Amino acid sequence: MSNTRFIGKVYHRFDELASTNDWAAQLLGTVPEGTVVRAGHQTAGRGQMGSHWQSPPGENLLLSVLFYPHWLDAQAQFHLSMAMALGLNDLIASLGIGHSALDVKSSIKWPNDLYLDDKKAAGILIQNALSGATLQSSIVGIGLNVNQLNFPPDLVNASSLAGAFGKKFDLDEVAALLFEGVERRYLQLKAGKREAIKSEYEGSLWRLGQPVRFVRAADGAAFEGIVLGVTGTGLLRVQTGKGEEVFEVKQVRFETREAT
Ligand code: BTN
Repeated sequence: MSNTRFIGKVYHRFDELASTNDWAAQLLGTVPEGTVVRAGHQTAGRGQMGSHWQSPPGENLLLSVLFYPHWLDAQAQFHLSMAMALGLNDLIASLGIGHSALDVKSSIKWPNDLYLDDKKAAGILIQNALSGATLQSSIVGIGLNVNQLNFPPDLVNASSLAGAFGKKFDLDEVAALLFEGVERRYLQLKAGKREAIKSEYEGSLWRLGQPVRFVRAADGAAFEGIVLGVTGTGLLRVQTGKGEEVFEVKQVRFETREAT
């Protein structure tokens, strides 16, 4: 049982669903904030930019949390994304892994993947609905690889908690800690701490301040740049040969083999 005020107090659990995000969308407006939809397996799990999220039955966490952030301006919606990524990143410290955690660096790969060293262990898919100038609802879908050790050959940069830390985890316990971390960050944002969220997010960015090779989506051209941070709307700020440039998610990808 999680030590939270509202996340996971209503908890819909299924052995199998098409997608927890899609199920959560059906519940919007009929269930309280913090309702969680969790599945042991998804037959049509969805990832960012139309991709599929694959996960073998029973090994990982596949869940969606419903929020009603009426208090958040639509133009500040990336702050919710940053808060969720931080909540996921905080989980690593709260797992109580001790010394083994010191050898594994957790970070946030822009915009909101959880990386353990140079491998992706979790992704977040957020679906916001607006009402005028503010958010009406947000479905935060989280796929966290927990006990999976074998990945399909096309997922060369995938990892899991078990893969990184060399031990298996109890899924319910990890879920409870995740709810606590995500709730803490949501409440921090609700309390108006936008700048703190942004600066902690930037401080947790994978490859911050380091030279990285990127590929432009438009023409496939590779270029080198240094990740500087993000804008308030979620564009990636990169120092390139042309000066400081900003990119949308669809415009660039990191070229490194581990980070496709
Ligand atoms: C990504 O592409 O990195 C985001 C992946 C998000 C996957 C999770 S699994 C639970 C929830 N339901 C879905 O269909 N997708 C999200």
